Amino acid sequence: MHTTVGIIGGGPSGLLLARLLHNAGIDSVVLESRDRAYVEQRQRAGILEQATVDVLREAGAGARLDREGLVHDGIELRFDGRAHRIDFPALTGGRRVWVYAQTEVVKDLIALQLDEGGPLLFEAEAHAVEGADTERPVIRYTHEGVEKTLTCDYVIGCDGFHGVTRGAVPESVRTTYERTYPYSWLGILADAAPVYDELIYAHSERGFALASMRSPSVSRLYLQVPNGTDPADWPDERIWDELDTRFAVTADAGWRLKRGTVTAKAVLPMRSSVTEPMRYGRVFLAGDAAHIVPPTGAKGLNLAAADVIVLARALIHLRDTGSTELLDAYSDTCLRRVWRAEHFSYFMTTTLHVDEGQSAFETRLQLSQLDRVASSPHAAAELAENYTGLPLGPVD
Ligand code: APR
Ligand code: PHB
Repeated sequence: MHTTVGIIGGGPSGLLLARLLHNAGIDSVVLESRDRAYVEQRQRAGILEQATVDVLREAGAGARLDREGLVHDGIELRFDGRAHRIDFPALTGGRRVWVYAQTEVVKDLIALQLDEGGPLLFEAEAHAVEGADTERPVIRYTHEGVEKTLTCDYVIGCDGFHGVTRGAVPESVRTTYERTYPYSWLGILADAAPVYDELIYAHSERGFALASMRSPSVSRLYLQVPNGTDPADWPDERIWDELDTRFAVTADAGWRLKRGTVTAKAVLPMRSSVTEPMRYGRVFLAGDAAHIVPPTGAKGLNLAAADVIVLARALIHLRDTGSTELLDAYSDTCLRRVWRAEHFSYFMTTTLHVDEGQSAFETRLQLSQLDRVASSPHAAAELAENYTGLPLGPVD
């Protein structure tokens, strides 16, 4: 089999890329190692930047998002017993974010691809990418127990952090920059109406907590826990009590979350990682295959979308003009935005979490930084601009 663009991975980056290329009349094949049900129920973050929403709409994938997505004009920061709202549109000239779960984006894109797009093969696991520096790179994969090859003009690795495509970039030209964190998140989904209108990010001496949501009747809540935590050590009541303690505000002592049935519970590790360059010959990396951010700030999905938007434009430009100029700039264009999001995610993580080993001095610095954001429009605007997302870059 031959295709113009071979896409490894049917997560948000692979699926959005396939959709953008299909709309432009460029053929592709998507290989996804898992089955459809698994990909559609995998729990991930749920905040979409304005630019991500705009592109999903333009791509014809915004109908359910427009019906069911929740528009948010701000977040609340809680620290030192205080609550402070960050008003996004006022601070950024009108930008806002949408609460719409990544799993829902994936469901919408899969349905469109199967209805209208090129091949999307589930349970098709890529083993190797060969000939990255030739005119005809090849993907070797197994589908329904049979070994197959797909020859491509271009191969795009959208296969996440544990994918195989990164290995097609020789070690001699590849550098990975990494940071791990001494804490994880315990995340729950609960059939409980959020009592808050906007997300709450809380710094407390007992650790970080985040109140998010999936719909007007489903809450998504997170607690900072030590690495290696067993979710079984956290019965539901302990989680609810701990959340209420960490969100406590002095001026509103009666404030409590609404409790409900916990339908999912999992511990998520935190990591920052960037692999450079994001391109070698005719092989390109996009999304989690090239970079990971800790979830504080919800940049992962938006960065993945930004990569494939830049890549789709570059491939369309090549088809229309014969010029590889944008394709040649792909890695540098993306990495500039990636490093900004890496810094923001690191800033949010290290400002809001309490490392067990940190000194009282360091805690005071965190509180001073949060107080600065709460009292200076300049500091608040810096947070709001990063949170709602920066423009897509030179190709705009
Ligand atoms: N062959 C085929 N598919 C593969 C292979 C392989 N060898 N290895 C991994 N995959 C698939 C995975 O099963 C997964 O569906 O690639 C997909 C990668 O999807 P994601 O991990 O969701 O990565 P991406 O599409 O870049 O989206 C990034 O996901 O982790 C979150 O926070 C992150 O929101 C961000 C988003
Ligand atoms: C989520 O809703 O899952 C979520 C929201 C905001 C974050 C991280 C995760 O910063």
